[in-house]
Amino acid sequence: MTSPIRTERHGDVLVIIADNPPVNALGAAVRQGLEAAIEEGEADGAIAAMVIRCDGRTFFAGADITEFGKPPVEPMLPTVVDRIEASSKPVVAAIHGTALGGGCEVALGCHYRVAVPSAKIGTPEVKLGLLPGAGGTQRLPRLAGVRLALEMTAKGDPISAKRAQEAGLIDRIVGEDSLAADAVAFAGEVKAVRPIPRASERAVQPDPEAVAAFQKENARRFRSFDAPAANIACVVKATEVPFDQGIAFERKEFLRLMTGNQSAAQRHIFFAERQAAKIDDVPADTPLRPIRRVGVIGAGTMGGGIAMNFLSAGIPVTIVEMAQEALDRGTGVIRKNYEATAAKGRMTSGQVDTAMAALIPTLDFDALADCDLVIEAVYETMAVKQEIFGRLDGIAKPGAILASNTSYLDIDAIAACTSRPQDVLGMHFFSPANVMKLLEVVRGAKTAPDVLATVMALAKTIRKVAVVAGVTYGFIGNRMLMPRQVEANKLLLEGATPEQIDRVHVAFGMPMGPFQMADLAGVDIGWHRDPNRIENVRDALAAEGRWGQKRQAGFYDYDEKRNPSPSPRVAEIIQDWRDKTGTPQHEVTDEEIVERTLYPMVNEGALILEEGKAQRASDVDVVWIYGYGWPVYRGGPMFWAKTEGYDKVVAGLEKHGFTVAQSLKSGSIK
Ligand code: 3HC
Repeated sequence: MTSPIRTERHGDVLVIIADNPPVNALGAAVRQGLEAAIEEGEADGAIAAMVIRCDGRTFFAGADITEFGKPPVEPMLPTVVDRIEASSKPVVAAIHGTALGGGCEVALGCHYRVAVPSAKIGTPEVKLGLLPGAGGTQRLPRLAGVRLALEMTAKGDPISAKRAQEAGLIDRIVGEDSLAADAVAFAGEVKAVRPIPRASERAVQPDPEAVAAFQKENARRFRSFDAPAANIACVVKATEVPFDQGIAFERKEFLRLMTGNQSAAQRHIFFAERQAAKIDDVPADTPLRPIRRVGVIGAGTMGGGIAMNFLSAGIPVTIVEMAQEALDRGTGVIRKNYEATAAKGRMTSGQVDTAMAALIPTLDFDALADCDLVIEAVYETMAVKQEIFGRLDGIAKPGAILASNTSYLDIDAIAACTSRPQDVLGMHFFSPANVMKLLEVVRGAKTAPDVLATVMALAKTIRKVAVVAGVTYGFIGNRMLMPRQVEANKLLLEGATPEQIDRVHVAFGMPMGPFQMADLAGVDIGWHRDPNRIENVRDALAAEGRWGQKRQAGFYDYDEKRNPSPSPRVAEIIQDWRDKTGTPQHEVTDEEIVERTLYPMVNEGALILEEGKAQRASDVDVVWIYGYGWPVYRGGPMFWAKTEGYDKVVAGLEKHGFTVAQSLKSGSIK
């Protein structure tokens, strides 16, 4: 097998080149090749300096994550990085694309770093539940200072070449198109400089104030995650002990994280997210339909948010409403949202104007005729949707993709109102649609493969994580929400309080519990609006006008700042229903809440998979991570069930009388 590493001689500079597509991950062969190439440069008297660069789209994007959990193959990355740093001849890293994780660490092991202006440098290991385990936590603070090292390691966001240069991580920014030649020239300039600058030999001062401030600023973000604290501890260690001891501490912490559940979950999600984009029975090279203009029907909260996704990606949008007032309100909200983003410095006013200029608001339904994709985002009523699709069928150009943003309804029944069901599918965005990453793409019985492939690719363009779902009430996410809500309501009658149930969910890591969610979304949603027909606690709340946060009263009472407190009135209503229904009371434990609200979600996920309504278990996990804020360190409901042990989940479900999915019983979930 040919090595992914080759060398070239440019005068007295040895250029070491990696070619390991797609992202030059530092797999075993790359590590072996790098080490051998450094030895080659050291041994050759005609060589005075070395350059390490990569072919393809990026400098090393990190350790090869697919090797994690497998038996280690020598040389390990820390050894390779140390070998580079120990070289008696200067080594220059030539960076383009993204120097991430182990890639960044290779660069830090080099004595100099040059980069193109578009390059990014970072240590995203924390997002995989890890820390930079090849000396990164010890070399970064020595080169860039404690504060930036904390930012880069514990938060994991990459920085630009410019910022890296300002911080002392990059020695020179070179031409975008002349990296190879400029790096060799730079090596020529520094080849005789002694002593050779080695990051490990630099001193770094403790900065307890910076550490304390950083921890305080990010306490919420880091809540319940193991890895950020470990990253911080390693950076702090770098300021306290000699390099070698710091490295030993880093290694110990790295191994602890690597063998823990959180990192396993986060690595699972890394691959799950990428896997979700793949459609099992549609080839990756399926020709796509061009999407040059998108139509959105409905300028309400959802329609407006949906439109923003395309505008932000530079795709023009025609947005249609029934009345001028609603149209004006909708476009006003879009502008306001963009302006708020600009005020936070995340957009320029020029970009706001460009996005708004690409929006055509209109009352004329016929204006949708030149759209390549039309997304309907009106009321959740089948009759209304069918009427709209019938009309759309007469207007949309041939080949246009017709999508519904329905959260529950049958896409096939909607498609049947057109003469072109092959062009119809669901695009279920999550609220707020311009923020939430998830897109459920609902494949109807007749949806054409290229229509599905086009929308999945488009999702990537608008930076969504898309998951294919089949036609089933509530698709993947909302269908799994239903058993959770049913049980949560029953538990109230049996003796639990909304506070207790929500607390268990928040402690589990969810952003909020079922009743906090009901208050946020609106207790009146789905209510039949008949004050004389009160069938459960929720109806009783709705009939009293306790519609949730918007009314400052729902399952909780709220003050003006929307801070919740337990509601005595709700306690009364619950008691009233306990009495009316004669429900026997018992002390509900936190464990029972987990078994009765979270396990049934797993069970429903298993049923969805058995019915073929989701392609794979990891897709179900992606839905819950990106659509509902399931804690990423638990890897989604299906991964979590595996961590818990299928046997335990099955036993818990059976204990409470649930009918358990066959695949869960047999542990054959895929
Ligand atoms: N190891 C193995 N495979 C990787 C990989 C890695 N580090 N990074 C990306 N890939 C694979 C992806 O799975 C994907 O495979 P597929 O085509 O079969 O689905 C392919 O490379 C392309 O990746 P993307 O679709 O993500 O391509 P993008 O161009 O959108 O993004 C990227 C490129 C920014 C490099 C992104 O892939 C990324 O962020 N990668 C992970 C970076 C990372 O976390 N590095 C740290 C690794 S841990 C480490 O280094 C430990 C060390 O400290 C000891």
